Parts: sequence; C-alpha cells; structure tokens
Amino acid sequence: MKKILTLTLLCILMTAIYLVAAENEQEEEYDEDLYGPESLIIWEKPVEGVVFSHKRHTYQAGLDCGDCHDDLFEMMAGAAEEAEDFTMEAIYDGEYCGACHDGGYAFAADTRCTACHIGVRGVNRLQKSSGEEEESH
Ligand code: HEC
Ligand code: HEC
Ligand code: HEC
Repeated sequence: MKKILTLTLLCILMTAIYLVAAENEQEEEYDEDLYGPESLIIWEKPVEGVVFSHKRHTYQAGLDCGDCHDDLFEMMAGAAEEAEDFTMEAIYDGEYCGACHDGGYAFAADTRCTACHIGVRGVNRLQKSSGEEEESH
C-alpha cells in the first residue's frame, strides 16, 4: 500500500516537472515582445512575393527595434508597399532594406535576389505549409 502511494506521488511530481520544463522551453524559443512578430511580413506590391523575417533580424542577427522602427519602417505590415518609392532603385539608394543591405553591413541588395524575393509560388508554399501545421495541431 505504502509503495503504491509513493509511486503515485512520484508520478505526479515527474508530470509537474515535465509540464514546467515544457512551458519554459516554449517561452525561450521565441518571444514576440522581445523579437517582433514571428510570422513573416509578405509584400505584394510592386511585385508579389517579397518576404521579411523579424526572427532573422532580431533573434538571429541581434538588431534592435530602433534600428528599423520608425525611421525606415512603420510598425504596420503593408505600410511600405503603399509608398510609390518602395522599389529597388530606392533600396539601391540606401532606403528601406538598402540602409543595411549595401554589401557592407549586410549582403548587398543587388545580389541574391531570391533571398528576399520568394515569388508567388514561394508564398503559396509557405501558406500551404502553415495551414497544414494548424490542421495537425
Ligand atoms: C531590420 C528591420 C526591422 C527590425 C530590427 C524590426 N522590425 Fe518590425 N518591421 C519591420 C518591417 C519591414 C515591417 C513591415 C513594415 C511594412 O510593411 O511597411 C515591420 C513591422 C512590424 C510590426 C507590425 C506587424 C503587423 O502585422 O502589422 C510590429 C508590431 C513590429 N514590426 C515590431 C517590431 C519589434 C517589437 C521589433 C524589435 C524587437 C522590431 N519590429 C524590429 C522591420 C523591422
Ligand atoms: C538595420 C539593418 C537591416 C535592415 C534595415 C534590413 N536588414 Fe536584412 N539583414 C540585416 C543583417 C545584419 C542580416 C544578417 C547578415 C547578412 O545576412 O548579411 C540580414 C539578413 C537578411 C536576410 C537573410 C539572408 C540569409 O541568408 O539568411 C534576408 C532575406 C534579409 N535580411 C532581408 C531583408 C529585407 C527584405 C529587408 C527590408 C524589408 C531587410 N532585410 C532590412 C540587416 C538589415
Ligand atoms: C534585401 C532584400 C531584396 C533583395 C536582395 C532584392 N530585392 Fe527586389 N525588392 C525588395 C523589396 C522590399 C521590394 C518592394 C516590395 C515588393 O515589390 O513586393 C522589391 C521590389 C522589386 C521589384 C519591383 C519594384 C522595382 O524596383 O521595379 C523588382 C523588379 C525587383 N525587386 C527585382 C529585384 C532583383 C532583380 C533583385 C536581385 C538583383 C532584387 N530585387 C533583390 C527587396 C529585395
């Protein structure tokens, strides 16, 4: 009888430790307050299928919110694409992404087009795979 009780208590304790650990792990993975929105920003104008990742820039490259907000970009997805000058010419002139992607601070915007341009099919693939993830939850 005593043995069963001890085992039961042990099980409860292990479950509690597991749950706390799982929760901590999730929090450590990606905190949107610290690193900005986790989902990608996707622009459709002037061309479809250009993506921006906060995770890549803050969590991984160590940039601060103030490096981009609000001088280069507003904190509102889609704001920049409403501007007439959201073009490669402006970017090559050092505006928007071009403030850093000049081949000095970060890779130059006139190289590696497909790092930023994933195109219509790339966006469809992204949306399809995130849809599948949601379904399997
Ligand atoms: C390297 C540049 C960069 C950095 C650093 C950055 N952001 Fe952003 N952020 C952007 C861009 C680009 C957009 C989209 C703006 C647009 O579409 O006009 C954006 C949009 C946003 C949005 C709006 C999202 C939405 O769905 O409307 C929020 C909120 C945001 N950023 C928060 C943050 C926070 C918090 C940080 C710091 C932890 C941060 N950003 C750091 C570039 C950056
Ligand atoms: C404040 C500086 C800054 C701005 C503004 C900025 N980036 Fe970056 N970006 C970086 C740095 C630093 C890296 C990491 C170093 C590198 O890849 O050259 C990076 C990396 C990237 C990568 C990852 C490449 C890879 O192989 O992993 C992509 C894609 C990218 N940026 C796209 C963009 C886009 C699109 C914009 C504009 C909407 C933008 N960046 C604006 C600094 C910036
Ligand atoms: C650092 C990210 C980045 C890289 C690298 C990049 N672009 Fe862009 N590009 C953008 C952004 C942001 C826009 C504006 C948003 C949109 O059109 O959806 C844009 C828009 C465009 C446009 C439409 C506007 C215009 O200027 O006519 C063309 C065409 C284009 N890019 C071609 C290219 C080519 C070709 C390359 C490689 C030589 C390239 N881009 C590399 C981010 C990038």
